[in-house]
Amino acid sequence: MSSKPEPEWDQVDDFLTSALAIDDPILDACLAANTAADLPPIDVSPLQGGFLALLARIQGTRQILEIGTLGGYSTICLARTLPADGRLTTLELNPRHAEVAAANIARAGLADRVEIIVGPALDSLLRLQKENRGPFDFIFIDADKSGYPAYLKESLKLSRPGTVIVGDNVVRQGQVADSKNPDPLVQGARKFIEDAGANPALDTTVLQLVGQKGYDGMLIARVR
Ligand SMILES: C[S@@+](CC[C@H](N)C(=O)[O-])C[C@H]1O[C@@H](n2cnc3c(N)ncnc32)[C@H](O)[C@@H]1O
Repeated sequence: MSSKPEPEWDQVDDFLTSALAIDDPILDACLAANTAADLPPIDVSPLQGGFLALLARIQGTRQILEIGTLGGYSTICLARTLPADGRLTTLELNPRHAEVAAANIARAGLADRVEIIVGPALDSLLRLQKENRGPFDFIFIDADKSGYPAYLKESLKLSRPGTVIVGDNVVRQGQVADSKNPDPLVQGARKFIEDAGANPALDTTVLQLVGQKGYDGMLIARVR
């Protein structure tokens, strides 16, 4: 979600990016290619990408599932954490997004580790189950928010005890607290959080986040 950031959030993101020496020509080239292809700037921020990559490294991930590729920014952040025999499978509805992502991922030298499956994520998740794929060690959900409850349900069938599941954009400028908000994206985020919270097989928390992408948040869960 790209709510307008407060000036100080932007300034703090700038300071953190510089203090942490986050200088990444490959990710910069990915964003430039996305802009040139007119993709919406709804990728994770550099700091958020760093956070996802750290989680994946802490987890010692070999198999990653991503739902929502866009131009492959988060895909690159995550795929870089994989060992040579690791694999990231990413699901994208829009063939044009997938095409731009494929070029970005190839430029990053990660084409051998990343598979992009084009189509509605729910169909792709069912296909992965049919093919007995997984279990995945790390699952990043970042597609249409109204689909999140179904993505969680189907992702769990592709997980194992210890799998980490992250869902992005679940706070939505605070709108998630409003049970009467008619926006299906807000209702999707609410149900996703409620379903995860009510699932005894998951340890779950949600972090509210601010920064250059505005005010939002991520759900983080681990399968027991
Ligand atoms: C927020 S963007 C993903 C950003 C990306 N994870 C990143 O940080 O670089 C969401 C993506 O999900 C895709 N999407 C939307 N609905 C989808 C669906 N039903 N199945 C698969 N992908 C979908 C959109 O086309 C878009 O590219």
